Amino acid sequence: MNLFDLTGKVALLTGASKGMGYEMALGLAKHGATVVISSRTQDELDAAAAQINEAVGGKRAHGIASNIVHKDSLQALVDKTHEVAGPIDIVVGNAGVNPYYGPITGISDEAYERTMNANVQSNLWLAKMVAPDMEGKGGSMMFTSSIGAFRASDTLGTYGMSKLALIGLVRNLAAELGPKGIRFNAICPGLVKTDFARELWDKPGVEEKYSKAIPLQRLGEPDDFAGLAVFLGSDASKYMTGQALTVCGGSSMWS
Ligand SMILES: NC(=O)c1ccc[n+]([C@@H]2O[C@H](COP(=O)([O-])OP(=O)(O)OC[C@H]3O[C@@H](n4cnc5c(N)ncnc54)[C@H](OP(=O)(O)O)[C@@H]3O)[C@@H](O)[C@H]2O)c1
Repeated sequence: MNLFDLTGKVALLTGASKGMGYEMALGLAKHGATVVISSRTQDELDAAAAQINEAVGGKRAHGIASNIVHKDSLQALVDKTHEVAGPIDIVVGNAGVNPYYGPITGISDEAYERTMNANVQSNLWLAKMVAPDMEGKGGSMMFTSSIGAFRASDTLGTYGMSKLALIGLVRNLAAELGPKGIRFNAICPGLVKTDFARELWDKPGVEEKYSKAIPLQRLGEPDDFAGLAVFLGSDASKYMTGQALTVCGGSSMWS
């Protein structure tokens, strides 16, 4: 038996037209899952789904546009996923936002609410919308937090707070829905070379400087997260729930 086999499973991913979400979708599809990838931009989703289908040699990827901050849009995503692929077995709540760089004392109410709404509340909505699919038969949901959850920052403080709240959400959902067979885990990446974090790493000399301070001597790449999604989505992790898995080349170790 292949512990990582996802044949016949349906996975729904937010924030998956590019970056880590795309690579996680590709990994899940390569292990047999049908994947529904989502973001706000249909053109990019169509191109990403076509790439996944080409890689797996079949039509197992579908792109459905949705903005996670609007509850109706998220519900429409879940409904359309049911139409094109059936009941959902795996959720990857990967989309997140950071509308503000600066001290927490300087953030506007609007930016604060946007951060908390997108990074925390939308994931609760998604979990509540999909949980009925999984009750009784089991399922796995994973949400992308950040190592920013574990440290104070004078530029990313509210973002870090929102990602810590997301871990709290995961922990509570794991406790509440564990008896129904649904697992919840958080993924905490370090600095990964995506558009989202470009402001942090794409400056002369910065990548070299950060890399020297990381035990594995490099920044993260989006495809570093594919194996983790497959692990968390499959029976390989069937006794794991309520955890926050830190994937950062060793830049943030347990202490
Ligand atoms: N990169 C890092 O260093 C890092 C570190 C720790 C945690 N993270 C977290 O990792 C997650 C993914 O980021 P990434 O680095 O892989 O970024 P990315 O490559 O820039 O991809 C972000 C994805 O999210 C989508 N998206 C953005 N806002 C959205 C919204 N409101 N509704 C639906 N989709 C939305 C984007 O597409 P559209 O713009 O077309 O919607 C895109 O598909 C985020 O939760 C982020 O907080 C990133």
